[in-house]
Amino acid sequence: MTPVEHARGDTSIRAVTRADLLDVLHIEKSVFPQPWPYSAFERYVDAPGFLVSVTDADDALDSPDETLDSSDGLQRRPAADAADHATTGNGDSGGGLAAALDSVTGDGETITGYVVATERSDDGGPVGHVKNIAVHPDCQHEGVGSALLARALSVLSNRDVRGVKLEVRRGNDPAIGLYRSFGFEHHRTIPEYYADGEDALLFVLDFADRDAF
Ligand SMILES: CC(C)(COP(=O)(O)OP(=O)(O)OC[C@H]1O[C@@H](n2cnc3c(N)ncnc32)[C@H](O)[C@@H]1OP(=O)(O)O)[C@@H](O)C(=O)NCCC(=O)NCCS
Repeated sequence: MTPVEHARGDTSIRAVTRADLLDVLHIEKSVFPQPWPYSAFERYVDAPGFLVSVTDADDALDSPDETLDSSDGLQRRPAADAADHATTGNGDSGGGLAAALDSVTGDGETITGYVVATERSDDGGPVGHVKNIAVHPDCQHEGVGSALLARALSVLSNRDVRGVKLEVRRGNDPAIGLYRSFGFEHHRTIPEYYADGEDALLFVLDFADRDAF
């Protein structure tokens, strides 16, 4: 087990279950102005790269002073090229953590974030696609996003994808910083990709370059 991220105590990453989807949707609505509908998450519920970050409910208010182990050995690059920290989306963090994380699963867990990653084959072989990733506004900047992305990349890597792609809003500095910290590189720009007219940046990570992790 290689420690890779600082995260809220007792945070762990596991596969999503159907029972998690309402909590996932709650986070989605708290961070995105144009959230995915429930049906979109339902469509991917069996995808191996649909993962959630969870923390014991009792620990949800603890200080984030512990490290999260990753069983995959994937590590971020030094965040030398990360952008300035800035807010993103329309996070509704005003209610505080206790209010925000009011949904406790039957196992006494609280879901703090999720990632949806899939794969598809093209002429060159299977390619991974990070379709969505989000962390509850009150749990950001604690390594949870990094932990989710690391595990999703590990899942994809184990499925022999030759690379991973993703789209991100041109102005989403936190997400761009996260992706760059894993070695993703800007490949091209897709003009007016989003419904509100904002451009998407297509980022790619070549798995042939294992040092990228
Ligand atoms: C992007 C997101 C998932 C990052 O999650 P997180 O748990 O805060 O990320 P981490 O704490 O693991 O931070 C990892 C890296 O991301 C980058 N990052 C995170 N927040 C950032 C911010 N506000 N500004 C710039 N870079 C930021 C940094 O490179 C950071 O590394 P550092 O802490 O060493 O500087 C989170 O901000 C989020 O949920 N945003 C709203 C949803 C969204 O935009 N998703 C992406 C769609 S493409």
